[in-house]
Amino acid sequence: MTEWHKSDWRNKPRIQMPEYTDPAALNAVEAQLGKYPPLVFAGEARTLKDRLAAAARGEAFLLQGGDCAESFEQFTADGIRDTFKVMLQMAMVLTYGAKVPVVKVGRMAGQFAKPRSAPTEVKNGVELPSYRGDIINELDFTPEARIPDPRKMLQAYTQAAATLNLLRAFSTGGYADVHQVHAWTLGFTEGEKAARYRTMANRISDTLDFMTAAGIDSSNTPELQSVDFYTSHESLLLEYEEALTRLDSTSGNWLAGSGHMIWIGDRTRQPDGAHVEFASGVLNPVGLKCGPTTTAEDLKVLMNRLNPTNEEGKLTLIARFGAGKVAEHLPRLIRTVKEQGANVTWVCDAMHGNTIKSATGYKTRPFESVLQEVREFFSIHNAEGTIPGGVHFEMTGQDVTECTGGVRAVSEEDLSDRYHTACDPRLNASQSLELAFLVAEELTARREGRPAQAV
Ligand code: PEP
Ligand code: CO
Repeated sequence: MTEWHKSDWRNKPRIQMPEYTDPAALNAVEAQLGKYPPLVFAGEARTLKDRLAAAARGEAFLLQGGDCAESFEQFTADGIRDTFKVMLQMAMVLTYGAKVPVVKVGRMAGQFAKPRSAPTEVKNGVELPSYRGDIINELDFTPEARIPDPRKMLQAYTQAAATLNLLRAFSTGGYADVHQVHAWTLGFTEGEKAARYRTMANRISDTLDFMTAAGIDSSNTPELQSVDFYTSHESLLLEYEEALTRLDSTSGNWLAGSGHMIWIGDRTRQPDGAHVEFASGVLNPVGLKCGPTTTAEDLKVLMNRLNPTNEEGKLTLIARFGAGKVAEHLPRLIRTVKEQGANVTWVCDAMHGNTIKSATGYKTRPFESVLQEVREFFSIHNAEGTIPGGVHFEMTGQDVTECTGGVRAVSEEDLSDRYHTACDPRLNASQSLELAFLVAEELTARREGRPAQAV
């Protein structure tokens, strides 16, 4: 076998990537990024692999969530804090409710490039190249805005670095201290699920008080004072990925320095394509989206290419079939994995198979379909005797109206109120919390060997 190199993807067919028109500008950006520090350290990526291996064994559970596409314009400290806060709340519901350690991974600090269903977009008879994410071009519907500009990679790097810096500060600087469990609810105090969250937070506070009274100083326990929070994104813009790839001197392996975990999207998982080639050589944990068109044959080849040594925690299969379709597709892929004796972590992306166009013209996702796909995912794993290792969502801490339904019942007419996403519709804070209660119930029912109840 010849040795992998970070630029080998350039010899493979590539799709869903921009054609840059100014090669000199592109080269200059790549050279500059190549000199910048990586955003993550190899030891962190290895620790995340260990955590994902635990999730594959049912000893932990992955919660992966964040924006569909991070945006330059909507980049604020409050935005980062609120998404982080909702993920902490969701994790608390799972840890407390389902008694399972939660591995928290943001679709953050690098989730900028987007695959599109069509290369161009037509509006009022005008045809322009599609928007491909802020790291490539701009959302405005003008010819200039849609020209891919390599300098945007530098802005994306800067934003990712600042985002990760804040996430690290929140994770270890006191904000994520479990003694703050009440403070995280501020801002989301209405609704039945928020009330349930407050009740749970009260119980946690009581437990901490009890420990203190019993002479255990819970205010000085690192496990309670900080969290581990990891970053992830789709490895789509390979010029950016390559420029941030570094040799890890401890192991002699290559690290994708752009984030802790990278994944391959449903549109770019061709076994002989550029994206699989790139992901096959890095030491990071790798996710692979599996959709209705994933064949058993492709999955076999992909598992071998992406995890040739069958390392635990290395490969996460992110199933995204759509509500009503899980029973048709998941069992056949589970069978392939079993036949191969492959180590994988099974995760449910309950968003990307459930996108529809509302009567009012917005791209949306019915919250009920999201919940339904999660239920189907658990029920198939229960039937097959395999382990549901985590969930993957597009969500935000902002009070947006992008997905219909939920306890606060967003209607199709409401979508226009606060529809802010740069790409796909996200769950808002209240819907995210509601979903966490459903997942906690599914996990608890599984542990107790009984059917899940309605939550
Ligand atoms: C995504 O995760 O934003 C995405 C595009 O997903 P998929 O590749 O599964 O369609
Ligand atoms: Co998306």
